[in-house]
Amino acid sequence: MTAKPIDGKALAARVRGEIAAETERLVSDTGVRPGLCAVLVGDDPASATYVRMKGKACDEVGFASRIVRMPETTTQDELLKEVNELNADPEIHGILVQLPLPSQIDPDTIMLAISPSKDVDGFHPTNVGRLVAGDLESGFVSATPAGIMKLIAETGIDPKGREAVIVGRSDIVGKPTALLLMHAHATITICHSRTADLGAHTRRADILVAAVGRPDTVRGDMVKPGAAVIDVGTNRVRREDGEGHRLVGDVDHASVAEVAGWLTPVPGGVGPMTIAMLLSNTLTAAKRAAASS
Ligand code: GUN
Repeated sequence: MTAKPIDGKALAARVRGEIAAETERLVSDTGVRPGLCAVLVGDDPASATYVRMKGKACDEVGFASRIVRMPETTTQDELLKEVNELNADPEIHGILVQLPLPSQIDPDTIMLAISPSKDVDGFHPTNVGRLVAGDLESGFVSATPAGIMKLIAETGIDPKGREAVIVGRSDIVGKPTALLLMHAHATITICHSRTADLGAHTRRADILVAAVGRPDTVRGDMVKPGAAVIDVGTNRVRREDGEGHRLVGDVDHASVAEVAGWLTPVPGGVGPMTIAMLLSNTLTAAKRAAASS
């Protein structure tokens, strides 16, 4: 078998097209233009690239976008003050504080300070609580897990009654993805660095999500024939010829493609969907603001 690729790039382009059309309608009907502000603290090059990509994606769908850049030495109080100003700014509907933050700042304190109604990352405890409770309507579901669910939907595989195995237990991917799959009636297993026999679990999976941040964590002999495999990894590894870096996922694509029914590419799978779902959350935030004003 050769796994069919799940084209995240094409799906994301479709979602962005729908968002652009809805944005135009929202602006002409209500005068409200969705606004997203990304806050970047410090000069981590990967974070700077992500923030730039998010800003560009906003421009393309007709959102107003703003990037606030703060120095590496920013104090927690300074960042809290910025967040509070954005909470009160009627032109901003979505606030995104790019993680990781410098060590002098506690990320939980910052996430708690963002208004839940502008928390388009879905990281505020109120929105996490809604997700745990199965309320997927009133808050925000974080973008990467929401994108993963759309990619799974593309395969035509209904999670209901299926075995879904998630490798990785992070707050931003593993845990929320497991919850979404559980709410979609899959039987879920969450594996992590202390799991004794990873392959014994992954081989049961009809839907396998790899989100640990380590290349080659999932190999072909760990995959059930025909399974849908979602590779969330974005690992920068040195190129074999020594010339710079390339991006690889958590899955060994050569061996897994022989066994799986579906496989997301890296790059071009989960990554573009994450940005598309962030835009979708921002549009939702703007629509709610327009309806309540
Ligand atoms: N850093 C890595 N992924 C994310 C994300 O989805 N949102 C934010 N704010 N920071 C991140």
